[in-house]
Amino acid sequence: MRVALGADHGGFRLKQAIRTWLEQAGHEVLDFGTDSEEACDYPDVARPAAEAVARGEAERAILVCGTGIGMSITANKVPGVRAALCHDAYTARLAREHNDANVLCLGGRVLGPGVAQEVVEIWMSTAFAGGRHARRVAKVDELDAGREAR
Ligand code: RB5
Repeated sequence: MRVALGADHGGFRLKQAIRTWLEQAGHEVLDFGTDSEEACDYPDVARPAAEAVARGEAERAILVCGTGIGMSITANKVPGVRAALCHDAYTARLAREHNDANVLCLGGRVLGPGVAQEVVEIWMSTAFAGGRHARRVAKVDELDAGREAR
């Protein structure tokens, strides 16, 4: 799978680890930075990475900031993106099964590397369950159509 990856300074270290995990698992990574722990602004990374997903240049994105909150708020402004802030195996699995999340947001200052790797692996490998959830996700996506019409 082609995965867009991005972080601010608060997520830089975890992003580097995620890049290694993804590449070892055979995924192609499009790295949107940042490239150091020097302070930067999370929207400057989240927006282009989320837009890459919306345009179909990447199937998914994983975005990391200190809490994951700024990344998720920003990514969810991009039509076509369903970004989920996940903290554990349960939220990672349900973000895929129920929400068909195409962007995963993580807190680099919240999760240890072991839990973060488990979250990434589960989120990457879990399929959307469809059924009643497809109806709900379609209602979410209708909001994008309304936004574009305004
Ligand atoms: C940066 O200090 C921090 O605000 C950022 O990484 C993120 O947590 C924002 O939501």
